[in-house]
Amino acid sequence: MSDREERVEALADQAPEATTKDTLIARIAHRTARVGVIGMGYVGLPLAVAFARAGFTVSGIDLDAAKCAEVNAGRSYITDVPSSDLAPLVQEGRLHATDDYGVLAEMDVVTICVPTPLGKAKDPDISYILRAAEALGQYVHTGMLVVLESTTYPGTTEEVLLPRLVRNGCQVGEDVFLAFSPERVDPGNTRYSTHNTPKVVGGVTPACLEVATALYSAAVEHVVPVSSPAVAEMTKILENTFRAVNIGLVNELAVICRSLDIDVWEVIRAASTKPFGFMPFYPGPGLGGHCIPIDPLYLTWKMRGMGMQTRFIELADRVNSSMPLYVVNRVAEALNDDAKPVRGSRILVLGVAYKADIDDLRESPALTIIDELRRRGARVTYNDPHIPTMRLGRDEVLESVQLTKDTLDWADCVLVHTAHSAYDWEWVARYARLVFDTRSVMWQVKGSARIVAL
Ligand SMILES: NC(=O)c1ccc[n+]([C@@H]2O[C@H](COP(=O)([O-])OP(=O)(O)OC[C@H]3O[C@@H](n4cnc5c(N)ncnc54)[C@H](O)[C@@H]3O)[C@@H](O)[C@H]2O)c1
Repeated sequence: MSDREERVEALADQAPEATTKDTLIARIAHRTARVGVIGMGYVGLPLAVAFARAGFTVSGIDLDAAKCAEVNAGRSYITDVPSSDLAPLVQEGRLHATDDYGVLAEMDVVTICVPTPLGKAKDPDISYILRAAEALGQYVHTGMLVVLESTTYPGTTEEVLLPRLVRNGCQVGEDVFLAFSPERVDPGNTRYSTHNTPKVVGGVTPACLEVATALYSAAVEHVVPVSSPAVAEMTKILENTFRAVNIGLVNELAVICRSLDIDVWEVIRAASTKPFGFMPFYPGPGLGGHCIPIDPLYLTWKMRGMGMQTRFIELADRVNSSMPLYVVNRVAEALNDDAKPVRGSRILVLGVAYKADIDDLRESPALTIIDELRRRGARVTYNDPHIPTMRLGRDEVLESVQLTKDTLDWADCVLVHTAHSAYDWEWVARYARLVFDTRSVMWQVKGSARIVAL
């Protein structure tokens, strides 16, 4: 008899009249429920750690065997999860990782945290969800809760996941439970982690919501139940659309202010003194990461299929996508003022991650900026304390150069792309000749460098 069968039998002996839902909620309350997390990346690993810390025994399932080996060695590859948090959980047997889906047969709860990128035509690529669902489908059993955490368009949980998971006469809400709970983790944020960020949850039925709420209440401080998976899916899209649109607005204002010879950063600082009704957003070299540039376009695709437009999203996408090229043109102008053409100029990019203090290069505007500068004949190097190498195109790999007086002196232009806190901007301004500052890190800095702000 397997572990699972023994546990189910023991529970049946204890409470023969209990419903499947009650039994699962009791197992969650007693932390005897086994939790599986599919996809151990930026979202899945912190979540697995949060469940393990809450007292559950957790299995991470990832197709990447190298990641599984790192987890099982107690070594974290995610900056927000220190190895000192991970290693004791692994040693105590609370958390392990595997690339074998067979382990799901033993799970009571499974969360899905796989990527949801865009395809070439900026359409949703939900193939990772489909693959995970097909594999999980073989192991779904009575008394299992499945929660999708990957960001996606409204309707995915019920239209795509439900038919793949709940088969063979099983009833959702009675035999198996299905919910959507958007992941809100903010990599690099030292104040808010998985544990203290409120968790929105929408169940396919009230019983699904009840079980999913019981699960997250065990591991996070505050759970926000909503009436359906679609509401939870749309909540995440609203949050990220809100950011994409506001960043698009302020990026456009940055371009406008430049034409009016007004310092947009000063304008934002002044507007931020208003104690109500204003929330500052900042311009920059463009959007990056696996969320803000991508998630809103999931809704665009969905609405296009219904003959409707998402005008704010599409406009923000156009403005934000134009920023890397705008930066390249402004760098060219700054070099021109020094009587230098882009071709042959030496450019040092400081920070290539899409935002400060993280090691994530996905969708980073630095990729487009470096590519375009090189296409125009510039000699480009970069430094990033969090990203030792970066791949350009298919085959080329750039290595982060050391940041020294000599490297600063070598550069005709230092392009500040990411405001990592490890950088000493005074020191950069002292030894650089020309700094193009896309993040306004130099606004109070004194030094001999000529500073040009975005
Ligand atoms: N990164 C963020 O800041 C963030 C924040 C909120 C929400 N999200 C959302 O969370 C989801 C996951 O994003 P992420 O940043 O963690 O991605 P990630 O690429 O860091 O991690 C995904 C992991 O899933 C694994 N994987 C892919 N397909 C699999 C499969 N079929 N079975 C098992 N493992 C599989 C990959 O090997 C990878 O380790 C996405 O939908 C994303 O939009 C991400």
